[in-house]
Amino acid sequence: MRQVTLPGGETVPALGQGTWYMGEKRGARKVEADALRLGIDLGMTLIDTAEMYANGGAEEVVADASRGQRDKLFIVSKVLPSNASRTGVAEACERSLKRLNTDRIDLYLLHWRGGHPLADTVAAFEKLKQAGKIRHWGVSNFDTADMNEIATLRDGPGCAANQVLYHPASRGIEFDLLPWCAARGVAIMAYSPLGHHVSRLLASPALTAVARRHQATPAQVALAWGLRHPNVISIPKASDLSHLRENAGAADLVLTEGDIAEIDAVHPPPRRKAPLDLL
Ligand SMILES: NC(=O)c1ccc[n+]([C@@H]2O[C@H](COP(=O)([O-])OP(=O)(O)OC[C@H]3O[C@@H](n4cnc5c(N)ncnc54)[C@H](OP(=O)(O)O)[C@@H]3O)[C@@H](O)[C@H]2O)c1
Repeated sequence: MRQVTLPGGETVPALGQGTWYMGEKRGARKVEADALRLGIDLGMTLIDTAEMYANGGAEEVVADASRGQRDKLFIVSKVLPSNASRTGVAEACERSLKRLNTDRIDLYLLHWRGGHPLADTVAAFEKLKQAGKIRHWGVSNFDTADMNEIATLRDGPGCAANQVLYHPASRGIEFDLLPWCAARGVAIMAYSPLGHHVSRLLASPALTAVARRHQATPAQVALAWGLRHPNVISIPKASDLSHLRENAGAADLVLTEGDIAEIDAVHPPPRRKAPLDLL
């Protein structure tokens, strides 16, 4: 599995697993934990979750999947903006740790920007880091202006990652956010790398043609396309075991310049700045 280097030098797998919509139904939790376990066995040991997903239910599914193998995982969770005050972050983190049944979160993100001052959220993250409850912190859905603001804070350089929407049909971040992060060693975590509502993206004629040439699938091409950047981590969500096997195969797929050009022709790169795309 290719690795992405975080600020500070630690490496994490470039291909991980998402968990949005897991934990919603009690009866599906075993199947979902089994799916995450298969993903772990296939090398996708970075798992992304959030206190928001199923009101903490997804974190409980992650706890089930990580039983007996916590040390090989890199667990990412997110605090809601409404909890992002100095005291709120600490309390939310305790609740997440309990649901995750662990003593530390490897990367803790602010899910999106809300009303609490960024300086307070960052100070709370740093305090949790000093206490060993989180190992790294970062943000999500932050555009370049927000990243510039973070960089002005005393502890701003501690920001390890920015999790944003990124797939071939939504590539506005390539204009300035992705280069901004690459220049500073901040990892980009590409969420909804299959487009979330997958059927439209996976029917793309460019992805289909490239897939055929590589004896791969359009989903594998979409994932490999995001992973062509050295600082991008991709976190597809899959509960279906055949999807997991397929997605894991994307780690071995290297696209050629010709493939990239063919995808550009159908899904062009941005020519100007546009507001950050959200799901
Ligand atoms: N920070 C944020 O604001 C934010 C926002 C959105 C998402 N996220 C994170 O990013 C993760 C991924 O994004 P996402 O869940 O929105 O969308 P996604 O990963 O692009 O797509 C998930 C959907 O794709 C299906 N799928 C997976 N592999 C497939 C394959 N090989 N072929 C066909 N279909 C496939 C899944 O079905 P099955 O489950 O049935 O396999 C599921 O319906 C989330 O789970 C979450 O952890 C973060």
